[in-house]
Amino acid sequence: VSTTLTPRSRRSCLSVPASSPRKLEKAPGVGADELVLDLEDGVAAAAKDEARGALTELLGGGWSDGAVAVRVNAPGSPWSHLDLAALAALPALPDSVVVPKVESSADLAFVDRLLAGAEAASGRSRPIRVQALIETAAGLSRVGEIAACSDRLDSLIIGYADLAASLGRSKTAAAELDLWLAAQETLLTACRANGLQAIDGPYLGIAVDAGFEAAAGRARELGFDGKWAIHPAQVEHLNSLFSPTPAELEHARAVLAELERAGAEDVGAVALDGEMLDEALRVAAERVVARAEGAPTR
Ligand code: COA
Ligand code: MG
Repeated sequence: VSTTLTPRSRRSCLSVPASSPRKLEKAPGVGADELVLDLEDGVAAAAKDEARGALTELLGGGWSDGAVAVRVNAPGSPWSHLDLAALAALPALPDSVVVPKVESSADLAFVDRLLAGAEAASGRSRPIRVQALIETAAGLSRVGEIAACSDRLDSLIIGYADLAASLGRSKTAAAELDLWLAAQETLLTACRANGLQAIDGPYLGIAVDAGFEAAAGRARELGFDGKWAIHPAQVEHLNSLFSPTPAELEHARAVLAELERAGAEDVGAVALDGEMLDEALRVAAERVVARAEGAPTR
């Protein structure tokens, strides 16, 4: 498995229950960077088989011309092996698999083996990518181990609803942004240390209201690369929020140009607009340019 394959940008990841024909029909036109076909918590237990069955038609039939992820059920649940086996049999595999409730490297090893078998059977040469949802105390406590354990990993996603329940946090408390800071920092650090995208999980309302904007804005300020949406109305805000502004982009390009000039002319320290340019600013500027180009931001 190659580690040089790069993920696309994931400013907005729209979750679409695979059991809902109406939402499935609507989703491709919404403009999300990634559509996440959900087989897990957006699908009732009684509808799991039907939702899984819909995969074949969707993925085989060119359902979306953008990136498609499939959220399978959690390792150890009654459905995860069925979900992964169904994926394996598909003529067209999705770009990535989202594994929920990842609690250890063993969970990802289980998924990796099944996917390796799927790839061997399908003759697919481009390895399918994996995204891990961190949404339990166990997963959060082992996030460093998880982030480092698989060449397939593209991103970690922090999931608030399940994490709140796992930590013993009430729904009211969970709406308090400051209470998530430590968990967000822990996940973000594990991502950056391992070259992964850091994705903020869904806000639990469907509106684009002050609460949604505050939560998304906080994630962006912290350094996250994108966020999940559960409703089409949220997508546009996320795409714009997680894109650099024209001023940010212009400044980043100027920083890189000045650093390049300084390097070519072998001058030591250089300044731009009264600010000393150093390696930290180069890294930040490269990230801004990569984000603007929809390139991988890791
Ligand atoms: N993907 C695609 N289309 C969606 C959608 C989604 N996630 N959520 C809503 N829509 C569609 C609706 O079908 C509706 O389309 P229509 O006008 O053609 O009927 C339109 O967008 C407006 O929807 P609205 O009436 O405002 O919402 P709703 O009451 O139909 O649905 C939810 C509300 C929360 C049930 C729905 O947004 C949803 O299922 N979200 C995803 C939930 C999920 O994936 N959970 C697991 C991950 S956390
Ligand atoms: Mg969850």
